[in-house]
Amino acid sequence: MTELEDSTSLGLDVTPLAGYIGAEISGVDLRGTIEPAVVDEIRSALHRHKVVFFRGQDIGHADQIAFARLFGRVTPAHPHEEDPPEGFPEILPIDSRRYETNLGRKRTSYDSSWHTDVTALVNPPAASILRAHILPPYGGDTAWTNLVAAYENLPKDLRDFVDRLDIRHQFTTRAASGSQRERKVRETNLVSYHPAVRVHPDTGERALFVSPGFTRGAREVRGLSPSQSERILSLLWEEATRTEYTVRFKWEPGSVAFWDNRATAHLAISDAGHLGHDRVLYRVTLEGDVPRGVDGRQSEQVSGEAFYGS
Ligand code: SIN
Repeated sequence: MTELEDSTSLGLDVTPLAGYIGAEISGVDLRGTIEPAVVDEIRSALHRHKVVFFRGQDIGHADQIAFARLFGRVTPAHPHEEDPPEGFPEILPIDSRRYETNLGRKRTSYDSSWHTDVTALVNPPAASILRAHILPPYGGDTAWTNLVAAYENLPKDLRDFVDRLDIRHQFTTRAASGSQRERKVRETNLVSYHPAVRVHPDTGERALFVSPGFTRGAREVRGLSPSQSERILSLLWEEATRTEYTVRFKWEPGSVAFWDNRATAHLAISDAGHLGHDRVLYRVTLEGDVPRGVDGRQSEQVSGEAFYGS
């Protein structure tokens, strides 16, 4: 039986959106009880397509958290979040209205570089679920890239070389000087080394784990000089974000994106902040494991603490 036939018997349709990554799932209401077989089907679509999208979901914070719990332990909103919505410590608001104060300028998302969520942690989130609430009339899309495809399409000699590298990931503050957020980023001081290639614990696939937003600050490949690190990282960032490995998603209110943070990076496309429109989305993350490289070596925490959910 094909994936499509399998899903259809459960009332789901899984429609691929691009050649390497992304599928839209229809036929499921994320608010209600979701049968275990449907949960399994969503999980296998996620593993296969790396990011899955749902549209027209009329859900609130509690529904979003309950949906996330079907797939794992849900973490607090973010290691630096001090003001989640009341009663929902798991929800990270991605809210253009906050950034003027926190980051010192109007923008539509907290980051505008390719990144995998919070890879400065020794156990970055396994997955993230993002729900759109308020959107600009145009612009403000998000793109994802398939890091497994990026790895698998490297020439073998380069794969063999990259397999052995460890890269420093750190949280570099983009917060306004003197802000509460800047203080929090300094206090938590998240820094880790991760294998440049991580093996997915569920699929066994190898992914090019180079999270530009978190590796650009240090620009350090362990054991290499700064200029060697710089050139190798530039090559890997470019490979990880080649257009052909990506999918771009146009949000509507009620859209939900669910991505495998162990196999993707994403980019909030910063083409709407200058227009002054509001953009509000809500994210939850699932607790992650400590990555392992192809030889089984584990990531190392340099500073900060692992991030657990419940
Ligand atoms: C995120 O990086 O989790 C948010 C992406 C976005 O704002 O589109």
